[in-house]
Amino acid sequence: MDIDGTLVLVGAGKMGAALLNGWIADGLAPEKIAIFDPAPLPAIAALAREKHIRLNPAIETITDAVATILAIKPQMMGEVLPAYLPLRQPGNVLISIAAGKPVTFFEAIFGADTPIIRAMPNPPAAIGRGMSVLFANPSVSAPQKQLSHTLLSAVGSVAWIEDEGLMDPVTAVSGSGPAYVFLLVEALAQAGHSAGLDAELAYQLAATTVSGAGEMIAQSAEPAATLRENVTSPGGTTAAALEILMGKDGLPALLTRAVAAATERSKELAR
Ligand SMILES: NC(=O)c1ccc[n+]([C@@H]2O[C@H](COP(=O)([O-])OP(=O)(O)OC[C@H]3O[C@@H](n4cnc5c(N)ncnc54)[C@H](OP(=O)(O)O)[C@@H]3O)[C@@H](O)[C@H]2O)c1
Repeated sequence: MDIDGTLVLVGAGKMGAALLNGWIADGLAPEKIAIFDPAPLPAIAALAREKHIRLNPAIETITDAVATILAIKPQMMGEVLPAYLPLRQPGNVLISIAAGKPVTFFEAIFGADTPIIRAMPNPPAAIGRGMSVLFANPSVSAPQKQLSHTLLSAVGSVAWIEDEGLMDPVTAVSGSGPAYVFLLVEALAQAGHSAGLDAELAYQLAATTVSGAGEMIAQSAEPAATLRENVTSPGGTTAAALEILMGKDGLPALLTRAVAAATERSKELAR
């Protein structure tokens, strides 16, 4: 990865650190990165020292910003962002990863003609297996879109939406989704325990099964439905369980309701 200027990271918490590690792993020259975080974690301070990354430089010294990732908590944005107004520079695209903050929020602070991208990554970004969905305002140029795509690709897959309203269902599916999968492991382990397995073994079976099946999806060209059909013999044990799971009030119906509830909550939080 190469960029022609400075890449600024505002907020080096969980997601900021994941992105930072991803960029460095992808070969971005660390001297091209500047981090702002008033109380950086010791690991970030050590990395910055070791790699010669600028950490909390005087903001006026950054005159060639090409992209600025805003990775602070959504509720802090309003209070914190005015200090970063000097980063409103020609050619600098602002990329917010804050859940629920619409593009208009940033336009109101930085100006309506500022190139702004709203991105929604998800927790597996921490291990480079995230899913980020991006939306650009009309001021974002094609090269800036490409750069944003590359920057988020450092922590996983990237998809784009043309309608910002879709960020709510995106949040409900991929943003919150990892928690649903964690619950699946908990519930499967509990069911195994109820069926007579030792609790520890039941948990091991459930966790390894979910992560192994997830990896099969990741590695396969086939859709999940085909993988499911491939392991379901007519009249067999899997079919008996799927009859329950795919029944009237089964998993698809439950997830439809769960995603609808999360979508609604996402809309409420943005108000
Ligand atoms: N974690 C996820 O899986 C995930 C998924 C999707 C979206 N996001 C979004 O990503 C953003 C960051 O989330 P996170 O989980 O990484 O939160 P986090 O771990 O709390 O990171 C935020 C960082 O920003 C720092 N900060 C506070 N004030 C600042 C300032 N004035 N200038 C620069 N940095 C400042 C915080 O420092 P202190 O801790 O000292 O306050 C902290 O290190 C949020 O907007 C969240 O909605 C996160």
